[in-house]
Amino acid sequence: MEEIAFFDTKPYDRVWFDTLAPKEGFSIRYLENRLDAQTAVLSHGCRAACAFVSDIADEAAIKTLAAAGVEALALRCAGYNNVDLEAAERHGITVYRVPAYSPSSVAQHALALLLTLARKTHRAFTRTRERNFSLEDLTGIDLEGRTVGIVGTGKVGLKFCQMCLGLGMKVIAYDINPIWGMGIEYVRMDELFRRSDVISLHCPLTPQTYHLISRSAFHTLKDGVYIINTSRGALIDSQALLDNIKSGKVGAAGLDVYEEEADYFYEDVSSKVMSDDTLNLLLSQPNVLVTSHQAFLTDEALRAIAQTTLENLRSFFDGGASPNRLIAGRREMTV
Ligand code: NAI
Repeated sequence: MEEIAFFDTKPYDRVWFDTLAPKEGFSIRYLENRLDAQTAVLSHGCRAACAFVSDIADEAAIKTLAAAGVEALALRCAGYNNVDLEAAERHGITVYRVPAYSPSSVAQHALALLLTLARKTHRAFTRTRERNFSLEDLTGIDLEGRTVGIVGTGKVGLKFCQMCLGLGMKVIAYDINPIWGMGIEYVRMDELFRRSDVISLHCPLTPQTYHLISRSAFHTLKDGVYIINTSRGALIDSQALLDNIKSGKVGAAGLDVYEEEADYFYEDVSSKVMSDDTLNLLLSQPNVLVTSHQAFLTDEALRAIAQTTLENLRSFFDGGASPNRLIAGRREMTV
């Protein structure tokens, strides 16, 4: 039975990996440490390692993994900006990812953020627990008939689009690869910014999309706009968002991701001093709802992640081809 060194383990990871790994012929060495140049040595004796979004597989970590005997690195996530694929190739490590696990889970979380903010149920929840049944300041907005601007109509964006149509919203979208024939009205980004009552981001973080909602872009948005981000924090200039929340320009923000989230997200830091004042101030606003990169976190998605990760490793050990293998220097995956 092959042993896998599993970095950055959280209890929810184990549920499906414990169930499915023995069936695929694997045992798992669960490690709480995040992967980096110092911790890579903990994989000693394993021919495969498994990593997540906050692990750092840079040249130094890859070199140590290879020296420890690792030949395959299976990412249990879609993004791979944290892996030096060229270094992996140089050191003979084959890298895999899970390209999609549950687009509907992510889209539903975006909708949950939107509906919560629109009807202020996050505030009602804390209020009624203290036996405060007043409706003061709980007036919401009705989304029917309002315009939602969706940036990125890929797997998640399309699902979100369908959900918004179900609410009776008018959907407009921007994507560098529009899907014609789906009844979506594609517009330019500046028009989307100008017309949208709600903006929801579903595109990847690339050099082109870094600070897509920049300080200057905020001036072009509708007064009272709602902003939902379940994609990547750096799509939004966070300090500019805070300033526009404070000025009242932005009506509400639902953030599952944050620019500097790696310092805090996924961890309990409730007893520590948090030095990020932008995040501190965002968290203190009644019309800002932050979740800790949990849009993917459903039982269905966790099962799909475990299943695909283990299949990727099985194909490695069996010498088979996998569409989920990542090749250095290529944007697209190769078989
Ligand atoms: P996808 O690859 O299916 O769709 C992305 C879409 O963005 C594509 O249609 C693409 O053409 C478009 N796009 C690329 N560059 C663009 C640009 N410059 N401007 C406008 N559109 C552009 O990806 P998927 O599965 O829909 O995921 C979307 C994003 O959701 C991911 O990039 C990821 O950052 C995020 N995500 C977040 C999760 C969470 O737990 N919060 C979980 C999974 C994904």
